[in-house]
Amino acid sequence: MKEDVFPRTAEFEGYRLTALGGVRLEDLTARFGTPLYVLDRAELIGRMRTYRQAFGPDVGVAYAAKALCVVGVLQLAAAEGLHLDVASGGELHTAARARFPMERVLLHGNNKSVEELEYAARLGVGRVVVDSFSELDRLAEIAKRTDHTFNVLLRITPGVLPDTHGFIATGQDDVKFGFTLSAGIAHEAVARVLAFDRLCLRGAHCHIGSQITATHSFAAAAELMLSFFSDLRSAYGIHLAEFNLGGGLGIAYLQSDVMLAIEEYADALLGAVRSGAARHGLAVPRLFVEPGRSIAGPAGVTLHTVGTIKRVRGARTYVNVDGGMSDNLRPALYGSRYTVCAAGPGYTNALMIPFTVAGKHCETGDLVAQDVLLPDDLAEGDLLVTAVTGAYGYSMASNYNRLPRPAVVLVGDGHTDLLVRRETLDDVVSHDLPLVRS
Ligand SMILES: Cc1ncc(COP(=O)(O)O)c(C=O)c1O
Repeated sequence: MKEDVFPRTAEFEGYRLTALGGVRLEDLTARFGTPLYVLDRAELIGRMRTYRQAFGPDVGVAYAAKALCVVGVLQLAAAEGLHLDVASGGELHTAARARFPMERVLLHGNNKSVEELEYAARLGVGRVVVDSFSELDRLAEIAKRTDHTFNVLLRITPGVLPDTHGFIATGQDDVKFGFTLSAGIAHEAVARVLAFDRLCLRGAHCHIGSQITATHSFAAAAELMLSFFSDLRSAYGIHLAEFNLGGGLGIAYLQSDVMLAIEEYADALLGAVRSGAARHGLAVPRLFVEPGRSIAGPAGVTLHTVGTIKRVRGARTYVNVDGGMSDNLRPALYGSRYTVCAAGPGYTNALMIPFTVAGKHCETGDLVAQDVLLPDDLAEGDLLVTAVTGAYGYSMASNYNRLPRPAVVLVGDGHTDLLVRRETLDDVVSHDLPLVRS
């Protein structure tokens, strides 16, 4: 069923998606145009709640803002009692605009600038996840100069390579992030933090990757990290109070994708942490997780309008839409596959035939989805919808070919909130300065 990859409020007429969150798609496109990102409020909030319920009150669930970082979404995450993972000054600034409680914010990044760290100090960010020795020095210097105490977690790469795309595997030794566990670098980092007065070591963090579909890599990472906790107790007599296992739960982009439910993932992680702590004779540290994709991804869809159609005899038929890699980079970046179907008003009994949906950018690799079944009478002006674009869609959007970035709307209970307005052509050139001297 196509319905499986769409938000629960999706309404279909035949093969066409006609409404989301109680709002008709033709009303949305009449008001906001296309391309358009549409977020389903019930699905988004439902996923935040499922995470909190599945992990229980003792676990901190931090929404990974990188998946979709706009003020309205961060306001919802704050209201749902989530923590927040931000990975840059820009994401932190968005959190500040959303009035996100700063004690629940964690600042990430493998190359945080002095300005970003100072901004975090001024805002009173709850935790900084330190990624390198140079960052430790920067942080210690800022702490001293500003008389600010930072709560610190160390980002550890435990040496676990999950089964996912190489660009989004992050827990192996040969990677740019964090302190490597196997080489003893993580132990050295602990010794360094303990030497600084105004850096308070709260715990350790690892994030092994994204779009992970099985629990064994998480369990392996948990075991390595808890063994590290145990070593630290023997070496320094310290007990780290917090263990952040990162994000990474995979989601279904296609109907055929078989994925873990949030509850199964939570049970596996909680089980691994409790049994690992018991094995090493440790008190169970406070667990944190940082889901991004599995909260925002399935809550979002993208609407495009069909433009030109090109039939290549003996090959495929291309449907070219009014967006593409500028609103969803993932197919070009990772070869990611998506579910696309017809949308909007009307009903068709037409035959379903394969089409390749392409964008309007000057790249052959600018494909929205290949070989998807669409009505054979598809015509210029028709609407198409791509499912599961809520995460890493808008957040990775660009102005490539100087396309204005689309609007983002939130729909629910028949209401629509505009979260991000569509850019205009003037917005696109607004930072350009003409040469004064020609
Ligand atoms: C440190 C960290 N935490 C959390 C996440 C979120 O991962 P996901 O969106 O797969 O849940 C990422 C994603 O890259 C990350 O780098």
